[in-house]
Amino acid sequence: MDSIVVKGGGTLSGQIPIAGAKNACLTLMPATLLSEEPLTLTNAPRLSDIRTMTELLRSLGAEVTSMQDGQVQAMSCHGQINTRAEYDIVRKMRASNLVLGPLLAREGHAEVSLPGGCAIGARPMDIHTDGLALMGADIDLRDGYLHAKASGGSLKGAVIDFPFASVGATENIMMAATLAKGTTVINNAAREPEIVDLAKCLRAMGAQIDGDGTSRIEIQGVDRLHGATHRVVTDRIELGTYMLAPAMCGGEVELLGGRIDLVAAFCEKLDAAGVDVTETETGLKVARRNGEIKAVNVTTEPFPGFPTDLQAQMMALLCTAEGTSVLEEKIFENRFMHAPELIRMGADIEVHGGTATVTGVNKLKGAPVMATDLRASVSLILAGMAAEGETKVSRVYHLDRGYEHVVAKLRGVGANIERIKE
Ligand code: EPZ
Repeated sequence: MDSIVVKGGGTLSGQIPIAGAKNACLTLMPATLLSEEPLTLTNAPRLSDIRTMTELLRSLGAEVTSMQDGQVQAMSCHGQINTRAEYDIVRKMRASNLVLGPLLAREGHAEVSLPGGCAIGARPMDIHTDGLALMGADIDLRDGYLHAKASGGSLKGAVIDFPFASVGATENIMMAATLAKGTTVINNAAREPEIVDLAKCLRAMGAQIDGDGTSRIEIQGVDRLHGATHRVVTDRIELGTYMLAPAMCGGEVELLGGRIDLVAAFCEKLDAAGVDVTETETGLKVARRNGEIKAVNVTTEPFPGFPTDLQAQMMALLCTAEGTSVLEEKIFENRFMHAPELIRMGADIEVHGGTATVTGVNKLKGAPVMATDLRASVSLILAGMAAEGETKVSRVYHLDRGYEHVVAKLRGVGANIERIKE
């Protein structure tokens, strides 16, 4: 297993290109199941999660060709397809559950393994299955698989009230509804930019969708969808992650392709902490306002609130802020696993349930630490870049799921960082 070694100190300068969004690509790829014609995605990120989704779609009978070093995913899904998503693929990545809606819409039945537990939480699928049941699907759980069947062979439109604005459930229902008979309304739908990006792609394929980006999405079912070419939206989580690099290390970095609208709530917190974000012709420029970082309180919420996927990275910044910050994690039940690792580096953090209280210390000290999940791993790298001494982050395979070329991108702006094979 590889590790990443970071030597702290030194300010940063230069540019970091931001890739296409992992979490958009992982829902755009299953959309190929909705049409017999080719779907091509450009600006796709080169990540292990994308390779896992490719493996899953191929196992269902889709043809997936990665071109231009993985930045283009050309897919087509004509003829008979397999409707069983096997456990040995699904267990590697929860987003595999996003084939459930498309398979049901296309074939009228599907067997999708439950993803199983995940480090950050139980992550059940009740909102997905309750919504599909309202659309006429009979779903039962047997031998670890969801066995779903659309009564009468096809789904029908329904009004669905989500108890929580689930991102994945919004995506699954939206895709399923494109080919259902009649109109589907999702109330309390998720509003993330990845939802808007999926709706844009589905409309390009001929779907009739309104209200994406708001809490009420209306989908008018159509008989069939055609092929399309779609550019994957910029990754707002990679963007926010790298915006924290100059905030923590000093200096000034431009994030190429960055857009304020993708990270508005995050930028409000950066502003309160004393970090300036300036829009440029080619992205966002980030620098500390006057050297000191101030404590801020953060509560994670569904978009447009502060994203849970940036909570770990923000905590790394607040470890050396002036004052005490309170971080509330409202989306997942176990998303503070980075805290004990940051404490090993000298941070002063107290975790009680879903609340972490961070009292700023003067400097973090480099130490051997362990990555526990995707976003925790990158928060440890950021902390190491700002710490005194050397930090060695082990189990960096977590990183490869969501951050392409992380060493090259950070070294490109002056970080002293390298990846070593253990
Ligand atoms: C998506 O996961 C993202 N993944 C996650 O990013 C992100 O953290 C999450 O949305 C929240 O923004 C992808 O898009 C591939 P949810 P998803 O359904 O769809 C509960 C990363 O680091 N819930 O909005 O699984 C669930 O347990 C990953 O890139 C139910 O109870 O998130 C969780 O507590 C991590 N029942 C909360 O809702 C359900 O049926 C949010 O889940 C579904 C969800």
